[in-house]
Amino acid sequence: MRKPLMAGNWKMNKTVGEAVAMVKALKTAVADVTDVEILVCPTYTALYAVYNEIKDSNINLGAQNLFWEAKGAFTGEISPSMVKDAGCSYVIIGHSERRQYFGETDETVNKRTKAAFGAGLIPIVCVGETLEEREKNITFQVVETQVRGGLANLTAEESAAVVIAYEPVWAIGTGKTATPQQAQEVHAFIRKIYKEIYGDAADKVRILYGGSVNPKNVSDLMKQSDIDGGLVGGASLEAESFTQLVKY
Ligand code: PGA
Repeated sequence: MRKPLMAGNWKMNKTVGEAVAMVKALKTAVADVTDVEILVCPTYTALYAVYNEIKDSNINLGAQNLFWEAKGAFTGEISPSMVKDAGCSYVIIGHSERRQYFGETDETVNKRTKAAFGAGLIPIVCVGETLEEREKNITFQVVETQVRGGLANLTAEESAAVVIAYEPVWAIGTGKTATPQQAQEVHAFIRKIYKEIYGDAADKVRILYGGSVNPKNVSDLMKQSDIDGGLVGGASLEAESFTQLVKY
C-alpha cells in the first residue's frame, strides 16, 4: 500500500520567524496523525530553523530545489549534501515555476533527481502541461516526455522511492483545480508509462496531485485510486488550512 503524502510547497514565502511559528502550530495540530506522511518545504534560509522545531515530530522537511554538483565555484547554488545537512529528507525537483522562470529542462531535472538520491534525499519530481498544451490535446505527450526524461536512469530502489507530482500548470495558484476525474486520468497514464519503464515499481511510486488543492476539494481528489497525496502551495501556508489537508 502507498502511504499518502501531503506536501506543502511554501515557495518564496515566510521569514525564518514566520516559518518556525507556522510549524510550531502545525506540530501540535497534526501530532495524532500516523496514516499520512507530512512534509513542509520552506525556503533555504528557513530550513535549519524549521528542522530544529520539527525534528522529533511526525513532520518531514524538504527543500524546493538543489544543484547537482557536490561543491565548488557555483555562486548562489546549494548542493544536495547541504540540503541533507540542513535536515531535509525530501527535495522538490523541476517545479513548473523553475521550468518557466529559471530554464529547467527534463535533462537538468534528471541531473538533480540523480544527485538528490546520491545525497540520500527523496526527490519529488514535478510534471504537468500548460493550458496551451491541454487545449492542443497534447497533455499525454507532454507528460510522457517529462516522465521519461526527468526520471531516466533510476536504479530499481530509486524508481520505487521517488515521488512524482502531477501539477497542471493552468491549475497552479489559479484557483482552477483539475477535476478529480481529469487528475485521475493523467495519474493513471503516468503510472502506465512508469510501468513500461520500471515495471512493478509503478505500483509503489507515489503520484501527488498539485494545483489549487484546498480543504474543500482535497477529499474528492484523494478518493481517486492513483492520487497518493498532494503538493500544495497556497493552502499549505497556514497551519489551520494545511492541517485540514493532512486530515482530509
Ligand atoms: P497551489 O500551488 O496549491 O498554490 O496551486 C501548487 C504548487 O505549485 O505546488
